[in-house]
Amino acid sequence: NVQKLADYRPYPFVLTATRLHFALNPAATEVRAALSFSPRDADMPQDLVLDGGRGVELLSLTLDGEVPDPAHVIRRNETLTLSAAALPPHPFLLETTVRIDPSANTACEGLYISNGMFCTQCEAEGFRHITFYPDRPDVMATFHVTIDSDLPVLLSNGNPVGQSQGRAEWHDPWPKPSYLFALVAGELAAVSDSFTTRSGRRVALNVWVRPRDQDRAGFAMESLIKSMKWDEDVYGREYDLDVFNIVAVDDFNMGAMENKGLNIFNSKLVLASPDTATDGDYERIEAVIAHEYFHNWTGNRITCRDWFQLCLKEGLTVFRDQQFTSDMRSAAVKRIEDVQALRSRQFREDQGPLAHPPRPDRYEEINNFYTATVYEKGAEVIGMLKRLVGDDGYRRALDLYFDRHDGDAATIEDWLKVFEDATGRDLTQFKRWYTDAGTPRLTMAEDWQPGVAGGRLSLTFKQETPPTPGQPEKLPRVIPIAVGLIGPNGDEVAPTQVLEMTEASQSFIVEGLGARPVVSALRGFSAPVVLTRPMDDQTRAFLLAHDTDPFSRWEAGRDLALSALTAAAQGLAPGGDHVAAIGRLIADDAADPAFRALCLTLPGEEEIATRLFSEGKVPDPEAIHAAREAMALRMAETHQDLLSRLYDGMAVSGPYRPDAADAARRSLRNAVLALLTRIDGGERAEILFGIAGNMTERMAALIALLRRGRGQAELAALHDLFDGNRLVMDKWFAVQPMAALPAQAAPIARTLSQRADFDWKNPNRFRALLGGLAANHAGFHAADGSGYDFTAEWLLRMDPFNPQIAARMSAVFETWTRYDAGRRAKALAALERIAAADGLSRNTREMVSRMIAAG
Ligand code: ARG
Ligand code: ZN
Repeated sequence: NVQKLADYRPYPFVLTATRLHFALNPAATEVRAALSFSPRDADMPQDLVLDGGRGVELLSLTLDGEVPDPAHVIRRNETLTLSAAALPPHPFLLETTVRIDPSANTACEGLYISNGMFCTQCEAEGFRHITFYPDRPDVMATFHVTIDSDLPVLLSNGNPVGQSQGRAEWHDPWPKPSYLFALVAGELAAVSDSFTTRSGRRVALNVWVRPRDQDRAGFAMESLIKSMKWDEDVYGREYDLDVFNIVAVDDFNMGAMENKGLNIFNSKLVLASPDTATDGDYERIEAVIAHEYFHNWTGNRITCRDWFQLCLKEGLTVFRDQQFTSDMRSAAVKRIEDVQALRSRQFREDQGPLAHPPRPDRYEEINNFYTATVYEKGAEVIGMLKRLVGDDGYRRALDLYFDRHDGDAATIEDWLKVFEDATGRDLTQFKRWYTDAGTPRLTMAEDWQPGVAGGRLSLTFKQETPPTPGQPEKLPRVIPIAVGLIGPNGDEVAPTQVLEMTEASQSFIVEGLGARPVVSALRGFSAPVVLTRPMDDQTRAFLLAHDTDPFSRWEAGRDLALSALTAAAQGLAPGGDHVAAIGRLIADDAADPAFRALCLTLPGEEEIATRLFSEGKVPDPEAIHAAREAMALRMAETHQDLLSRLYDGMAVSGPYRPDAADAARRSLRNAVLALLTRIDGGERAEILFGIAGNMTERMAALIALLRRGRGQAELAALHDLFDGNRLVMDKWFAVQPMAALPAQAAPIARTLSQRADFDWKNPNRFRALLGGLAANHAGFHAADGSGYDFTAEWLLRMDPFNPQIAARMSAVFETWTRYDAGRRAKALAALERIAAADGLSRNTREMVSRMIAAG
């Protein structure tokens, strides 16, 4: 059941208008669809194939008002076909009535019920569970939707065109594919506002939540208004309907969804109050609200021809939301956070059995390809393009893209062509970033000739991309390498310049340098590659002190820490100067506290394991844990006075504000707390937990205590305070296995899973517990296999119920081949147990068999 990019064929019919009528009822909803088709080529009669799966019961079907000969209506497992012989050579109206059962829909795909509220999730292929339809993104139609229900709030896409007792009508004038359809019905309350676009359209804005959550929706509204303004200012993109609705839903498989004019969100990405959400939650909410809003142009007005092109909309929209966050907050901090996330999720994916290109050319289940590679690497590729063509070139290319492709279902080829046409550049080689998987390894060697040409430095780069599943060999890529030079006295002697590497091996020469400079390479992380260069710890410490590029400065400290930690994790002497160098940096009161916090936080255990593995070593989770703990303790002891001063000095006074400045101080203070808790007996954390007026500090204190094997009283207190608040209780479930001592992580997860309030059918709750355990590196990879067994058990339980969640979560096993033979055998056994289950979903089957194949 493999889908292939090469098999793409246009749909043989044009669908101009879609009219839908819903008679909502939890167990028996009737959906009437009237679809206006016309044959693409009247001389070539073709079958009309509609998607529609099990659970969609066909009650009636007419063609231009007549019931066709039943012999021409063929129902298969996942399709309904009208044979060519039954179809006229001119436009026709196909009308169907079907019955579906939203109350039995546990997969959160199609039309389902969450907390008594009807809602939908159609991307990628959920619409086929609502009615029979050409459920593919290149079939675009206007939608007119009528909803009959006694529920007070009835929403769909587009503009409201009629509202009466028990009925609402919506019309969406912008042709769209079925994956952007949405419907919501329930008892909801709105936080409302309005936005007037540059050209004077007044747009009514609503964030819909359950009535008691109304006081936690204000921040989402503020974020929406900022996003609308930003897209006008930076991309010249205006909103195009009279209303924009956002709805928060408690049961949701992913973060959020950009349905036209009716974005649906996981409630954790809408609801925030100082008491319940952390600074990180606020930042994430702002970014995701922006992301979904930005999709209105990059995704909706211009959509994808087929699902292989998913990164066309996702990579670009992630890139846009990253730009937005950089503008709203600190650009340097945002870049570092993004690189950290890329390395921990995408590099990890690229290194293992699930590696795939940003534009895959085959899949079995498209839901398995909403990945870090498609999203985050897709965004990196756009960042590289922008660096190569410059800000002006980028702006011209984007203007051309919106101009040329508005209303289209486009491809990566279309996207690259606008850059070629707008800038005159040939992107043939650059395209490999879209079609090839794997993270290139880049090495840099320096050659310094003091006597030649007034001081000549040559930099020689070599690139190589390791094999990935299905792609044994790779050709060289275009790699933009941003480089600057720092003189021996610490001043920058050459500002950032972008070297364009296109060959497997290539040298770049700078002359007239006088004294030998220190090279600051891959500034701003100008390409998603692994850079290796011979560099001693002294030079790293020099860059950490003097580099003018904040990313590279942070990176130097990171490298310093990683070289010490990987040595220690292999039982070698952790030489180096990391602890001292970090001390100098965090003492610098002129630096942004958020930046200092990032420098102070040691690389995580997963990151250390990844580094060791990429150096050809077998990571030992227990040794990594011990090495990291030892270094943290040494930091705390060495800098005790400085840290206590910082802890007191970074306290934020006044009412809680989620803005970047206050959040930065809290992040530094909390990073300091994590260290001090190692030597103060937990005193500061206990006090902070008791007096904290916000969730950011409360969580930081709790985690610091749990990591030391304490915090039981605080856990109980948190539970008492927030028993009725799902989102806080999700944190309560996640944090326990995550911050547990390694040997206790799996047992704690198991105990928690037996609680009555472990409502595992709720995707957030399930992810909290299993994801919390997976985030504990040494705990998940416990040598006795208890982490693997626990996870496999629950994936098997979830799969028949919600295959998307089970399949996505199964990726916690993707690194299994890195470890020692004992762990590998246990992980493989767990994967094989899953694979052997009867009736395993297509989703989970594809994931598990890709992972087993790597063994
Ligand atoms: N398009 C949505 C977003 O990026 C995510 C949809 C995810 N869908 C899925 N089936 N996994 O904002
Ligand atoms: Zn998206």
